[in-house]
Amino acid sequence: MKELIVHSLALFVTIQIQWVLADRTSLKIYKNIQSDIFCFRRLNATHQIGCASHSGGNVGVLYLVEDDEEVMNITAHPPPMPYVVGMPIALFKMKNMKDLKQTGNIRGVLLFKPATSKALKNFSPDQSCPNRNFGFYTEKMNVEYAACKKKEWNNLQGNDALGMMFEDWGMPIFIITNKTHIKSIKKCYSDFNNDTEKSWPLCSVQMSSVMLAAKDSDTCMRRNKLISNLNEVKTCDPLSDKNIVNTLFPTNKSEEIANRSLIVVSARLDAFSMFDKLAPGAHSTVTGLVTLLSVAKNMDSLRKRISEKEEAKDKNVLFIIFNGEAFDYIGSSRVVFDMQKGLFPVRILDGIKYQPSLINLNHISHFIELSQLAPPQIPASLFLHTDPVSAKTADVSKKVTELVDILKSEAEAVGLDVSVAPKDLPLPPASFQSFLKHDKSIPGIVIADHDKEFINKYYNSIFDTSETLSVTLLTQVLTNISTAVSGTLYQLLTKEKLNETLDSTENLVSGLLECYLQNASCPLFRQIADPDMTERLRVEPYPLYVSVDSGGHTKANPITLYTRYLLAYLTGQQEQDRDRKNCTGSVQNQIYHYDWMAGSEENTTGVCIKSTVMYTIAQSPAYVLNEWKSTEYSTWTESVWLETTARIFVQPGKTQEALTLVTGFVIFFLSIVSVYFINDRASIIFNTRPLVGC
Ligand SMILES: *[C@@H]1O[C@H](CO)[C@@H](O)[C@H](O)[C@H]1NC(C)=O
Ligand SMILES: *[C@@H]1O[C@H](CO)[C@@H](O)[C@H](O)[C@H]1NC(C)=O
Ligand SMILES: *[C@@H]1O[C@H](CO)[C@@H](O)[C@H](O)[C@H]1NC(C)=O
Ligand SMILES: *[C@@H]1O[C@H](CO)[C@@H](O)[C@H](O)[C@H]1NC(C)=O
Ligand SMILES: *[C@@H]1O[C@H](CO)[C@@H](O)[C@H](O)[C@H]1NC(C)=O
Ligand SMILES: *[C@@H]1O[C@H](CO)[C@@H](O)[C@H](O)[C@H]1NC(C)=O
Ligand SMILES: *[C@@H]1O[C@H](CO)[C@@H](O)[C@H](O)[C@H]1NC(C)=O
Ligand SMILES: *[C@@H]1O[C@H](CO)[C@@H](O)[C@H](O)[C@H]1NC(C)=O
Ligand SMILES: *[C@@H]1O[C@H](CO)[C@@H](O)[C@H](O)[C@H]1NC(C)=O
Ligand SMILES: *[C@@H]1O[C@H](CO)[C@@H](O)[C@H](O)[C@H]1NC(C)=O
Ligand SMILES: *[C@@H]1O[C@H](CO)[C@@H](O)[C@H](O)[C@H]1NC(C)=O
Repeated sequence: MKELIVHSLALFVTIQIQWVLADRTSLKIYKNIQSDIFCFRRLNATHQIGCASHSGGNVGVLYLVEDDEEVMNITAHPPPMPYVVGMPIALFKMKNMKDLKQTGNIRGVLLFKPATSKALKNFSPDQSCPNRNFGFYTEKMNVEYAACKKKEWNNLQGNDALGMMFEDWGMPIFIITNKTHIKSIKKCYSDFNNDTEKSWPLCSVQMSSVMLAAKDSDTCMRRNKLISNLNEVKTCDPLSDKNIVNTLFPTNKSEEIANRSLIVVSARLDAFSMFDKLAPGAHSTVTGLVTLLSVAKNMDSLRKRISEKEEAKDKNVLFIIFNGEAFDYIGSSRVVFDMQKGLFPVRILDGIKYQPSLINLNHISHFIELSQLAPPQIPASLFLHTDPVSAKTADVSKKVTELVDILKSEAEAVGLDVSVAPKDLPLPPASFQSFLKHDKSIPGIVIADHDKEFINKYYNSIFDTSETLSVTLLTQVLTNISTAVSGTLYQLLTKEKLNETLDSTENLVSGLLECYLQNASCPLFRQIADPDMTERLRVEPYPLYVSVDSGGHTKANPITLYTRYLLAYLTGQQEQDRDRKNCTGSVQNQIYHYDWMAGSEENTTGVCIKSTVMYTIAQSPAYVLNEWKSTEYSTWTESVWLETTARIFVQPGKTQEALTLVTGFVIFFLSIVSVYFINDRASIIFNTRPLVGC
């Protein structure tokens, strides 16, 4: 009888074990899927935005949806268990995402965006009033125009993505571009989950994108300060990189700059999207940036002529490429802050022999900002935006009108159709606002392709790529705009009209557009790269996201570095008597900088370019002042994250999991019993003998 029980128990256990083991092999097959394009967490003084998973990763049963109706079905009858939704990028809309989030059971979203997928009609995840509270028009300063009261700039019809960037989604969202992975996700779904009756085992997804910072910048910066003493990891970093500045004529600290003698020409360098690695900024950023580079080149070729004019003596042009502007004007607010503190462009030290002159707000005579510039058709329409607040002063108003008139006549000469935007409207989002905030007597204009609202359908989004622009048309238009702006600068400097046409810069513009929009392994980037590095240039364009400080005074994002080199290459001189080894500046000379580049000629080892192009730090003054709750300066930080992963697997049902557990216990107790039994009779079974006396 006893034997029978033991035998049958043994048999039962064997069967159980076999069954469990057999199933286990299929259950334990995890398949890793793409997880490199993910939405992450950013924080400001009061909020956290973006995406994050739990520390162990989020797990949910896979649900695939193909259209809005299916999303509605899920949100109307949410699955009883935690779930992850996979859907085409076309369904990535504010309403769908908010409805899904509201179900409470959702654990993550996979967005399918294969290379063949088309851009949506309109898609901008930015706010309707970008940089709402940090420009010149705030409740404190200019209530009348505050927070886009008069007109919202980013106001596209049917933009279902509006504001998505600034939501806290509370779950991971990944973009899957790899077709193979999309296929295997769909196969896993149709093999296990495509039943109205969902029965276990089911295809599930595990998504892990752990963000270390939480709540707001103030909280995480205070924690950083605390733990930095204990040598632990940081949880967040302020968004920051470098601005790029250059003057047409070198300045020297021994000669003070005259008041109102400096014309600022500016553009921005950065853009964003919700996702890491994707910030193409073609229309949002590159159009203005390329125009500025081309203007800088034109002015370089006019430099000698200008310097010979009596009228231009004492005058200068300051080119500034601002970084971090998309996050509440990081770069421009820092430049203004440094100017006010007497630290721009460098801190003047007696110990250093050659330094450029200090520049402050009083020195600026005009401000010309190159904003979004991609008019959709010929003749190209441009709009000159002016500030209604400073225009109340007669002197400023007069100077603005003069500036507008000059630019208009220069633009007409090259077939551009220029009009002045409504005078009662404030400026669109622009770096110039940071300057006006502290000096209302600077006359200036913002040149853009839009009138009362953006025509850019993809402002600061993943779809803002060259595919949505006509590059050929853009090349011609930007060439002509840069000619018009250069002619304007020439007139402002010399009080004379430029009586000859500038050398065609169309080649330069098309070369620049190729580098920034299509192929970073382009001829121009190859010419400015270190000759030993040219083989390693990547093909995909570099993202324009400002990112966090890579440390040091000379380190910067790749695109910032390339842009600085480009500006040096286009405006600097080649030094014949320097080779690779001595093509470096000296600590005693902050006026000139030397960079070793491949150059345009074949079979040379490289060229040494001497220029006045330099970096200044683009980090919000809030982090200089340690005012992490600032409402005056940008407070954006980026969370530190752990490695992201995503995988699909077949998840067993609850009953089976329980069964597995019970079986485990049974085996556990059986083994205890048998060990006890064996131990008890060990002397009989193993026939032990005393060790001593052998
Ligand atoms: C939505 O659900 C209803 C009923 O639950 C069903 O009849 C309909 O086919 C579903 N639609 C889709 C697109 O799944
Ligand atoms: C922080 O960002 C959130 C979300 O965009 C916004 O509502 C809030 O006003 C911002 N806080 C500050 C201080 O700018
Ligand atoms: C897609 O994923 C597969 C398998 O992981 C990989 O072999 C392939 O190179 C990937 N394709 C691209 C375009 O990255
Ligand atoms: C799911 O099943 C339906 C009906 O059987 C079919 O039309 C659909 O293509 C299936 N979906 C997937 C992803 O296999
Ligand atoms: C700057 O000015 C000082 C004093 O006038 C002069 O010695 C020096 O050569 C100048 N430096 C440059 C680079 O022009
Ligand atoms: C420049 O302007 C400032 C402020 O208005 C004034 O204090 C300074 O004296 C002026 N400098 C010259 C050289 O006029
Ligand atoms: C650019 O200017 C040239 C004349 O300078 C004109 O022939 C051409 O049509 C203009 N192109 C555009 C796109 O405005
Ligand atoms: C432009 O004007 C300068 C004198 O200011 C003159 O020397 C030059 O020949 C003129 N060029 C053309 C193309 O008319
Ligand atoms: C990018 O440019 C390089 C060099 O000019 C060329 O070899 C390569 O084929 C280009 N790639 C693409 C995708 O255009
Ligand atoms: C740089 O080095 C080369 C030889 O290595 C020398 O001929 C040249 O004079 C040096 N130039 C400077 C500016 O020191
Ligand atoms: C560069 O060198 C290669 C081989 O060394 C030669 O064939 C080619 O003609 C040279 N090019 C120039 C522009 O000198």
